[in-house]
Amino acid sequence: MDYKEFLKTTLPHLGLRWRRFRSKSIRKRIISRLQVLALHSWSEYHSYLFDNEEERQQLSGLLTVTISRFWRNAALFEALETTWLPAILDRLPANEPLRIWSAGCASGEEPYSLLILWQESFAGSGRELHLLASDSDSRCLARALQGRYPASSFREMPRHLREKYCTNEGGTFSLPGGFHDRIVWAEHNLISDPPFKGNHLIFCRNLAYTYFTDSLQEKITVGFHRALLPGGLLVLGRKDHLPKGSGGLFRRLQHPIYERLSDNHA
Ligand SMILES: C[S@@+](CC[C@H](N)C(=O)[O-])C[C@H]1O[C@@H](n2cnc3c(N)ncnc32)[C@H](O)[C@@H]1O
Repeated sequence: MDYKEFLKTTLPHLGLRWRRFRSKSIRKRIISRLQVLALHSWSEYHSYLFDNEEERQQLSGLLTVTISRFWRNAALFEALETTWLPAILDRLPANEPLRIWSAGCASGEEPYSLLILWQESFAGSGRELHLLASDSDSRCLARALQGRYPASSFREMPRHLREKYCTNEGGTFSLPGGFHDRIVWAEHNLISDPPFKGNHLIFCRNLAYTYFTDSLQEKITVGFHRALLPGGLLVLGRKDHLPKGSGGLFRRLQHPIYERLSDNHA
């Protein structure tokens, strides 16, 4: 068995699309793991995994890509600010908070971007934002708590916003201390934990629709449909697409923004 064969026969059992993990860097990471376990071939590791749930979790952890950045897909943030958030707020009673869930939030870059967007354009209206951010990787959540990022994390965010909201400490940029507490953080696995309900928007970018198998994507899409309030929006990554057969659950407003259809939609 070679590396490609190993990926093909193992990763679908973890709910992952094997083609996404062919890079040399991921191969290297897995080889280091084989060395730790004193295993000598891909087929030995393949068999070992099947008897060992803990090792399957370990491998999932090794495969996790945690790269993110502020304002990722800047055009999306502009569309949210000018069109889609105002549209939802118009329909929402003034005393009801806007509820957003950022699923797979990495080290906080996405929910903090949403919080900054809110501060800039909507907070003045007196409306309230409830922002929930979740990730399966506790190390990511710990980094979000620190709220310190390299300049490269801000390359898509308008510079004036970085200057307004971050303190430059020798090339590392820190968010204001209180920002962390304005978001509810949760360790949550999209594959094994039930979705959080009652959201007006769910962001799931560069995660389920990038790395998960089609059947898992279908299951998660049904879960997101239930987790969104009527008329709620599901926001994907720039290169993500909903799985085939989602047409009865969501309709595209403007890629990558999809509107939840009502349950009785034909
Ligand atoms: C590539 S990052 C995307 C971050 C952000 N959404 C963005 O688009 O920039 C993927 C994130 O998903 C998390 N993740 C991976 N598998 C997950 C799972 N099963 N449940 C929840 N989060 C997961 C990773 O820890 C990582 O932080």
